[in-house]
Amino acid sequence: MSILLTGGTGFIGSHTAVELLQSNQDVVIVDDLSNSAASVVDRIEAITGKRPVFYQADVADKAAMKKVFSENSIDAVIHFAGFKAVGESVRIPIAYYRNNLDTTLTLLETMKEFGCHRFIFSSSATVYGTSDKVPFTEDAKELGCTNPYGWTKFMIEQILKDAALADPELSVVLLRYFNPIGAHESGMIGEKPNGIPNNLMPYITQVAAGIRDHLSVFGDDYPTHDGTGVRDYIHVVDLAKGHVAAYNYSTSHTGCEIFNLGTGIGYSVLDIVHAFEEANHLKIPYEIAPRRAGDIATCYASTEKASRVLGWKAEKSLEDMCRDSWNWQCGKWAK
Ligand code: WQD
Repeated sequence: MSILLTGGTGFIGSHTAVELLQSNQDVVIVDDLSNSAASVVDRIEAITGKRPVFYQADVADKAAMKKVFSENSIDAVIHFAGFKAVGESVRIPIAYYRNNLDTTLTLLETMKEFGCHRFIFSSSATVYGTSDKVPFTEDAKELGCTNPYGWTKFMIEQILKDAALADPELSVVLLRYFNPIGAHESGMIGEKPNGIPNNLMPYITQVAAGIRDHLSVFGDDYPTHDGTGVRDYIHVVDLAKGHVAAYNYSTSHTGCEIFNLGTGIGYSVLDIVHAFEEANHLKIPYEIAPRRAGDIATCYASTEKASRVLGWKAEKSLEDMCRDSWNWQCGKWAK
């Protein structure tokens, strides 16, 4: 039996493939390579000694997905594939709704046809919206998203909740990520943003590498300990291990369950800058800039449910995250 990872050559998908293979699971990856490279499959094999089955295809392509399911015995799906840039989603919202919703609906239809009943979804803390009741618990009222990307995650969660209500055999696990950073210690897989990085850590590593001149800190007048935005940064390897725990949980589950995957610790932008400088013995020049539209002051996870039900908690430190992020940036694969 195999686990299908859609978007499995991406940042979180590739790290999850490594952890699943190293847990003696068989992995099938479908990815259209619109935001990653086929060489990631070779690197996953180099790290684990096992090669995932790989299809280059659009997950919304029904014929392609029927081929995948007919050629492999898929017993669970982890759905990573989707457009994920907040700013881009504001510029091209229809493309985001079309892609992120179509891939999900095609997957659900194909799974039904082939008798596959376990769906783990790559969701995001962005669905909590502008709630200021931190730490965010899974039953927190979702106060509406601040961008089309977030709304696609919100809508897909609703689709999956309804699908689970209608099908007593279906297991749906919604994993709400906080801020994934870092990279595998090998430096062979990591986050490779297209163009100018939207997210904080890849921007910092590109400043450290001399690719960017300085970091713009988006606002220092938030109601936080140092005025800059606070987020829950989690090492991508810890996040990947959370998916292994979710898969194991899903083997004896039906219905729909939500879990935060975070550390429960909030760090500010300047905390991250200083931690990165200390871990890697270098300086990160920065300037204070205006707040970024759509940003909230503080966001971090309640980790109680994932610990109690999944038996999972993040283990890596902020120093690990900063060191591994820099190690990736310095390697040949980040170029
Ligand atoms: C973190 C902090 C910024 C860049 C987003 C998505 C979320 C998930 C993770 C996909 C904020 C500040 C950032 C910079 C800065 N993505 N910042 N200068 O916005 O918390 O979450 O990425 O799933 O869904 O919403 O992450 O890294 O963009 O920002 O000062 O150049 O760093 O203001 O306080 P965010 P981020």
